[in-house]
Amino acid sequence: MLRNKSLGGLKTTSLFVVLALASFGPGAAQAQATPDTSKMPWMNKALAPDERANLVLGQMTLDEKIQMVHGTGWGVLRKGAPISARSNFGAGFMAGIDRLNIPDINLADSAVGIRMAAYQSRYSTLLPSTLGAAASWNPDSAFLYGSVIGRELRAQGFNMSIGGGVNITREPRNGRNFEYAGEDPVLAGTMTGYLMNGVKSQHVMSDIKHYALNDQETGRTVVNVLLDKKAMRESDLLAFEIAIGISDPSGVMCSYNLVEGDWACENDYLLNQVLKKDFKFKGWVLSDWSATHSTVKAALNGLDQEMPGDDNYFGPPLKKAIESGQVPMARLDDMVHRILRSMFAAGVVDDPPVRTVVDPFRGLEEAQHIAEESIVLLKNDHVLPLKASQSSSIALIGGHADVGVLSGGGSAQVDAPGGNAIDPRSGGSVWGKPVYFPSSPLKFIHQKTPQANIQYIDGQDKAAAARLAKSSSLAIVFVTQWMSEGHDSPTLSLPDDQDALVEAIASANPNTIVVLENGGPVSMLWAQHVKGIIEMWYPGIGGAQALSNILFGDVNPSGKLPVTFARSDADLPHPIVPGLDPVSKTTLEDHQDKVRPFDLRYTEGARVGYKWFDAMNKQPLFPFGFGLSYTNYAYSNLTVDDTQRTVHFTVRNTGSSEGTEIAQVYVALPAAAKEDYKRMVAWQRVKLAPGESKAVTLKLDPLYLSVFDTDKNAWQLLSGDYKVMAGASSRETPLQATLHIQP
Ligand code: BGC
Repeated sequence: MLRNKSLGGLKTTSLFVVLALASFGPGAAQAQATPDTSKMPWMNKALAPDERANLVLGQMTLDEKIQMVHGTGWGVLRKGAPISARSNFGAGFMAGIDRLNIPDINLADSAVGIRMAAYQSRYSTLLPSTLGAAASWNPDSAFLYGSVIGRELRAQGFNMSIGGGVNITREPRNGRNFEYAGEDPVLAGTMTGYLMNGVKSQHVMSDIKHYALNDQETGRTVVNVLLDKKAMRESDLLAFEIAIGISDPSGVMCSYNLVEGDWACENDYLLNQVLKKDFKFKGWVLSDWSATHSTVKAALNGLDQEMPGDDNYFGPPLKKAIESGQVPMARLDDMVHRILRSMFAAGVVDDPPVRTVVDPFRGLEEAQHIAEESIVLLKNDHVLPLKASQSSSIALIGGHADVGVLSGGGSAQVDAPGGNAIDPRSGGSVWGKPVYFPSSPLKFIHQKTPQANIQYIDGQDKAAAARLAKSSSLAIVFVTQWMSEGHDSPTLSLPDDQDALVEAIASANPNTIVVLENGGPVSMLWAQHVKGIIEMWYPGIGGAQALSNILFGDVNPSGKLPVTFARSDADLPHPIVPGLDPVSKTTLEDHQDKVRPFDLRYTEGARVGYKWFDAMNKQPLFPFGFGLSYTNYAYSNLTVDDTQRTVHFTVRNTGSSEGTEIAQVYVALPAAAKEDYKRMVAWQRVKLAPGESKAVTLKLDPLYLSVFDTDKNAWQLLSGDYKVMAGASSRETPLQATLHIQP
């Protein structure tokens, strides 16, 4: 499936496809005359979205209803697939109902910016990876992130975003971690919720994905994930619950994998019982692309829309099932109602997209701002910030730091302006090939220190790179880990012998700084041998500007890790990526034809990331929540209010520069919970001038303190003593107090 999805083919065939635009699907056949909306009571904006949806539903024929519950096929994604004349060339298209003034739904993949903009000579801002943005722990930045996506989608004629990835980092080698928001359900759910609110602020429908437990790419279309309900609800599903609670998204995309024996897109427990009943989700469930496996079962078990549509379970077969009574009409009405009410609620009927030229300058500025909050300073042995006057000669090594910054691949790939900075050609990005964006570290570091002698070397020849490092006063090594949908990293180690490159540079020059551009956590055998380590994820189009501002102290780093960095694969719950062939190091996705289904039991349960390291008493390389600054902070005076369930403490900036500290609160539940780990339950970004102190008050959300009782199918707040810990990271909590909760 993935191979066929490659957009590479479009490079040679796009002209043909555009010229051969087929009139396809029911929508294309309809006249596009402007309907008389005065006779349409559902166009009354004063009515509630549900009421408006019901009014439309009452007018719809069976065929029109069926039309709305599936897309029209692979379209631009698959070479040779028909494309509706009305499609806006996104990953998905659903034809609207003209006579009722219900617009088409044009969906574009937009996890970190809009995919396939090059296809129509458009521009789209590449934002930092969402994992990076999660490192800001800043809901306002997440909102800004979503609003950039929504604004640019709108400008390009799309009315629905496909993004909002919130699968927690259960598998740190997952190829899509960069599209998600880290390992903690509270942080990930919160950030993703605000991101979707940002999308919706632009009157564009939002989506959250991939529901659920699609935590690795290896074997994603065949793996049967096994995890008990309590653990599910307290980990992966909690992230969705929080995000949905914050944002009420338009769509939830169900995932490719099976969960406890049933495909996620026809899984009664996940879709009907949890999502629609317990989470009270009001929008619609759309399948991941070709993740629908049946008609009747999927319809009854909660799927509302088949995407992209060419498998046609929800086309004529669903019509037949309705006519024969296998699927009640009420269920079809529910599917359509969910879609219509989401369209009214998001504003896409009243305020449809208006095409405009995307503002690349505003996008760049906002992407850079988010990147500056995303970058995490992992190590600083008195080497940073650099002083322009002292940096006489700088060796920049590897990572194509002369021309650009790396981006993540797959359906999250954004096309680079001017083409791939390391291989510019006409056309869009090619599936499977790393794309660099033209934000050159060399250029922006040079701007900060114009008098310095800065030389770049690609690092292929380690000895030559070490010679350059030796003859320079400072060496900055850029290491990269390209990740993409469709495969996982076989190990936590950096690819292409880059560990050896760093070692070689570190032995040649004691003043070595490593800059990481990676999709998720990596191991760093060389961490002790270098003076500085900067984590910049995939930093987006403003990445090099943000990096140079951090390097030279114009911006004080404030990001903190949303994921644990393990020392080695051996410390992970699954030392080898489940399903990965450890010999050939190829993933099952690479051999789709030969893959046989397999079970994956998540024996670690809800102990994901730092919870696993706590429970196993293992020392991570860099813990969850960790990040340094150019100043220091002191924590004091922790008190708790049992009645209000609030936590109070003071943070003081004890250094000499202004900074923002991300103060975190963790809680260990009473013994009755039988949890051998703590939970992150609250945080606050605190901006402090040198010497300044601020009192922090945080209210604890009872949901984050509760355990899931599967017998009662309900969250339960246990009475007892809760150990409250506050501090700078999951492994640095100098303040402790006890919160008493009574029934
Ligand atoms: C991915 C989705 C994506 C869809 C459409 C699937 O392969 O898993 O995340 O939105 O394709 O491109």
